Amino acid sequence: MKLWGGRFESGPSEVFARFSGSLVFDRRLLEADVVGSQAFARALERAGILSPEERAVVVEALETIRRDAAADPDLLAGAEDEDVHTFVIRLLGERAGAVAGKIHTGRSRNEQVSLDARLWLRGACDQARAGLAALMSALLDLAERYPAAVIPGYTHLRRAQAVLWPHYLLAYFEMLARDGERFAEARRRANVLPLGSGALAGSGFPFDREAIAADLGFAAVSANSMDVSADRDFVLDYLYAASTTMLHLSRLAEDWILYSSEEFGWLELGDGVTSGSSLMPQKKNPDSLELIRGKAGRVIGELTAMLVMLKGLPTTYNRDLQEGWPALFNAADQLHGSLEMARVVAESVVLRPETPRAAAETSWVVATDLAEALARAGTPFHRAHQLVGSLVLESLKRGWRPADWTEAALAEFAPEFAGGGYARFMNPEEGMRSREIPGGTGPEHVRQALAEARARLQTMTAPSP
Ligand code: ARG
Repeated sequence: MKLWGGRFESGPSEVFARFSGSLVFDRRLLEADVVGSQAFARALERAGILSPEERAVVVEALETIRRDAAADPDLLAGAEDEDVHTFVIRLLGERAGAVAGKIHTGRSRNEQVSLDARLWLRGACDQARAGLAALMSALLDLAERYPAAVIPGYTHLRRAQAVLWPHYLLAYFEMLARDGERFAEARRRANVLPLGSGALAGSGFPFDREAIAADLGFAAVSANSMDVSADRDFVLDYLYAASTTMLHLSRLAEDWILYSSEEFGWLELGDGVTSGSSLMPQKKNPDSLELIRGKAGRVIGELTAMLVMLKGLPTTYNRDLQEGWPALFNAADQLHGSLEMARVVAESVVLRPETPRAAAETSWVVATDLAEALARAGTPFHRAHQLVGSLVLESLKRGWRPADWTEAALAEFAPEFAGGGYARFMNPEEGMRSREIPGGTGPEHVRQALAEARARLQTMTAPSP
């Protein structure tokens, strides 16, 4: 069955039908299509196009389609319909009879596909937020398992300053919290009713658009029918939120691939999230994390594909837009899979706190602490910086570690150190204690931040508006 054809003398070529059909991927919109069509049947009744009896027949028949499709994925097997909208209408005809011919009154597939995608996206945004919250909770658990562990923080992948392990994990908590906000915003933007727009010029029937919006839980109705016809901004918003999330997951993956390497040796990833080698018996490879990093590229690629597809389209609907759905579905699948995988990896992580601690103690992550302590006592910071720099250089020449410097040795090295009690700054913990500032790695503030993060997670898991 086709939703058009009167104007044609012959049907589409087999090649064109195969080339243009979208049922293979837009079948994922089936449930949304049914729900949207049920609401539309009620709108047709209010507009006097369907009688209450006809509406009841249509809504009930649509319900059986939804039920059957959910119970039996084979319902679509072998279907040759152009797209999911055509498929649903054909089945509706088979099940409800002639009245099905009225369901498309004053409605265009251009607005229908927008409606279906918006309904679908609301669910996808909720799912992303739930996946984020679960991962964030796992990160907080991992932080709480080692509340006092010290690690060297890196810039340029060189040991920079000591931080608490929970402080490091809370950095990712913040990134993911922002991602959650982006999905809430993407949902809010998608949550606008397109129905009533017609193909591009507005429907020719007196639909009460506010009533349809209320029926389907939309917060507003769209303001311009030409805009609606080709508006995919809401898809871009979702893809951007998904890309940013994947970027964060990818960076976390990269960190943990490094930290679990023999060279770092801080982390042990669970057996359940690692793979062996078919050749090298000793290997335990972090494939789960590598795949997250790899999939980030795919999701970013889908955002790029969508942007490129949209940039040259003349105003209102063009069939190019159909190519956006596989991009959206693929991105959503990779995102949800990666969020789940990252959570399971986080649950499996065992930290060996003594290794990063030793890395912090044997390197000069305390250098800044020392320079700042001198500055607090009145030495101009520039001088303090120079002085500690030369102390580091001297240590490297002598083969000394920070802890090798006693009060006496420091005083002998430079008069600024005399009697200042600076040797205690050779312990990374001392420097962290000097960073008791909101957002800093001071132990008291980190404890607080951890507790606050737990509380914030509660509000995040509450349903979105
Ligand atoms: N499958 C189409 C899509 O996803 C539905 C809209 C069809 N509209 C049209 N004018 N051919 O874009």
